[in-house]
Amino acid sequence: MNILQLIEKKKLGGAFSQEEIGQIVSSYSGGSLPDYQMAALLMAIYFKGMTEKETLDLTQAMVQSGDSLDLSDIKGVRVDKHSTGGVGDTTSLILGPILAACGLVVAKMSGRGLGHTGGTLDKLDAIPGFSSDLSEEAFMDQANAIGLVIGGQSASLTPADKKMYALRDATGTVNSMPLIASSIMSKKIAIKNDILVLDVKAGEGAFMENKEAAEELAQLLVKIGQGAGRKVAALVTSMDQPLGQAIGNSLEVIEAIECLKGRGPKDLYDLVLALAQKALVLAGEEDPDQAKKRVEEALEKGLALDKFRDMVIYQGGDPACIGDYALLPSCAYSLEVKAPRSAFIKRLPALEIGEIARDLGAGRLSLEDELDLGAGLVLEKKQGDFVEKGQGLCRLYANDEDKLQLAQARFLEVLEFSDEAPKNQDLILSIVE
Ligand code: URA
Ligand code: CA
Repeated sequence: MNILQLIEKKKLGGAFSQEEIGQIVSSYSGGSLPDYQMAALLMAIYFKGMTEKETLDLTQAMVQSGDSLDLSDIKGVRVDKHSTGGVGDTTSLILGPILAACGLVVAKMSGRGLGHTGGTLDKLDAIPGFSSDLSEEAFMDQANAIGLVIGGQSASLTPADKKMYALRDATGTVNSMPLIASSIMSKKIAIKNDILVLDVKAGEGAFMENKEAAEELAQLLVKIGQGAGRKVAALVTSMDQPLGQAIGNSLEVIEAIECLKGRGPKDLYDLVLALAQKALVLAGEEDPDQAKKRVEEALEKGLALDKFRDMVIYQGGDPACIGDYALLPSCAYSLEVKAPRSAFIKRLPALEIGEIARDLGAGRLSLEDELDLGAGLVLEKKQGDFVEKGQGLCRLYANDEDKLQLAQARFLEVLEFSDEAPKNQDLILSIVE
């Protein structure tokens, strides 16, 4: 079929064969299929969807559009983690060192943040001297030496996804289940890990706004991963409010280090623990309680913090910042937002709070924007907490006093109070495997 016939086919709700999908992806990434036809096709997929088989085929075609990273030279059980993107989600910086301390190998490629969600590479940039721009050789050597490396996404992996994602972003076709699933999983499958733990976020601050949609995505991701020979599990977790207290790059590095020192916020710790436990069980630990014990021990004995320090040193960063946060980027100004009345906090919406942190300088609207690594906010109260009038709700950090004033006004606008204690929201909504 020619491309026009393929567009017609999807427009009428037909399903593509593996060959047809291969043809579409290779001609688009090769440049012979123009953006306008690909855009029409993506819009048809957006409205008509794809079968599970088509989604698997699309994922594989995107993997085959570029190189794969063979990790077989790295000894040990190799594990990767992926989150579908949240606000204040610092888990990778904590989970990686914990799993490495438990004897697994975490050789991870991360991305940068966009909009209200943060990216792990941006957070790591806050560590003075740290580089995530590693050669393949340096990446492999470090994984072998210390069991932990976090580098940038190699340009040679899944070029079709890069091109398709940019087009989706410009044509209103990001929010499609098969397109999201194949995009995420192509990048994960192109790196040949043994185990993959997924954190699929549900809520207003996430791609999937409710639990049901997030579960559907989680099931699809797990099936694609298993189809590619990985051991996979997915947690569906709430992203109604930001995770932990800190949102911002330096601020989240501090929060991650605090967590590794055993002093992190409870919700962040609980999520890290659940993901770590799942990874250890997939790696062969038969008893989940024993897996939990191993995680607790890695933290209590300081082994996870040691792994974090090793990673910082290997990647050129200054390890002194682990003991002295003043060495991390900070801001000239800060402001504590005070409660206008005594009440419970009913809603602390992740999306809006993420946008406030972004506008303070912690995030970017377009990939070329420069970040202010010290900027962001630290929540002093979370959903369900009671606050007395005049007590601190959060502290804002910026290098521009006007931005602080705007952020304060917006924070007070998006927060919702209630006189009754709101119902406690679960953080971990379900587990798919
Ligand atoms: N993350 C991705 O990598 N791709 C998507 O399409 C959505 C989220
Ligand atoms: Ca956080």
